[in-house]
Amino acid sequence: MTQILNIKHPIVQAPMSWLTDAHLVASVAEAGGLGFLAPHAGQTTDPTSNEEVLDRMRNEIRKVKALTDKPFGVPFIVSYNFALIPLMVDLFIEERVPVVLDNGLLDPQIYAKFKQAGIKIICRLPNPNLADALKAQELGADILVLTGFDEGGTLPMKEIGSFNVLAEFVGKVDLPIMLAGGIADKKSVQVAQTLGAEGVWVGTAFIATKECRASEKVKQWIVDSTANDLLLFRTEPYYYRSLPTELAKQCFQMSESGASRADIAKVMNAGTGMRLGMLEGDFDNGYVSVGNGISAIDRIKSVQELIDELMN
Ligand SMILES: Cc1cc2nc3c(=O)[nH]c(=O)nc-3n(C[C@H](O)[C@H](O)[C@H](O)COP(=O)(O)O)c2cc1C
Repeated sequence: MTQILNIKHPIVQAPMSWLTDAHLVASVAEAGGLGFLAPHAGQTTDPTSNEEVLDRMRNEIRKVKALTDKPFGVPFIVSYNFALIPLMVDLFIEERVPVVLDNGLLDPQIYAKFKQAGIKIICRLPNPNLADALKAQELGADILVLTGFDEGGTLPMKEIGSFNVLAEFVGKVDLPIMLAGGIADKKSVQVAQTLGAEGVWVGTAFIATKECRASEKVKQWIVDSTANDLLLFRTEPYYYRSLPTELAKQCFQMSESGASRADIAKVMNAGTGMRLGMLEGDFDNGYVSVGNGISAIDRIKSVQELIDELMN
């Protein structure tokens, strides 16, 4: 994996919407891992047009390049806005982004374009299944990420814990596999490796780093909490989990009392709810999406300290 991606350590800082900007991504690169920008990288407001999304992304990519000459990655699906995808693909090729993430779209034309441009493709299946994994392999993906139910962000639809997700794929897929979901310390990295993963795809643990732009209140709340504190609720189309903000409590109660997924999604307020909760620390109107790995996070570290610990 490190050879394919031209990095030192098989550790990826996963894309996380508003939270993963050029500063974090470059810090991860300098510490020997691979960082990913995400749709709202570096922003504090919702975009008003597709052009604005593209301009913002171009600027953030250029900021990373100004900060480091090491590889980094970008996902090409932005808030499931399908009109944007071909424009993003062209932008990434123009900007010579080293690595892209396919969140399971598995589009042969897009794969062919990236391959022709010499760009590495990581495929993360939001709902891991062997048929899609083999399709990703056939299309020329370089690395496969399998996501278990312990992750932060949008959860897979099937409740298969992260350490049980690998066995179905190891030995059947001829691609290096990374495991995602609840990996936050060296012990979980060791288990992932023992179970057949070549690398780890880590989100939540990077939120609790000094270099992440998440609200300091969010970082401290992560340190002070365990997985038992998290509220799990259904929304459209996925499950979500959050620290118990007022908004998350409302979503949880709606979920428990059988409200429709669409109604819960409206209350949760998708990207805006995340911005308010995680960037601005507004625990009345926002949510704080993190994975079950928070039990293992006991202090706010630098990116270098976190990567050194995961690699230890
Ligand atoms: C706050 C938050 C925001 C996320 N946003 C995105 C995103 O914009 N795009 C994406 O592909 N994945 C997103 N994810 C999923 C992560 O890329 C990654 O798969 C997940 O965080 C791994 O699980 P962990 O948090 O337990 O380490 C997000 C996760 C979190 C916690």
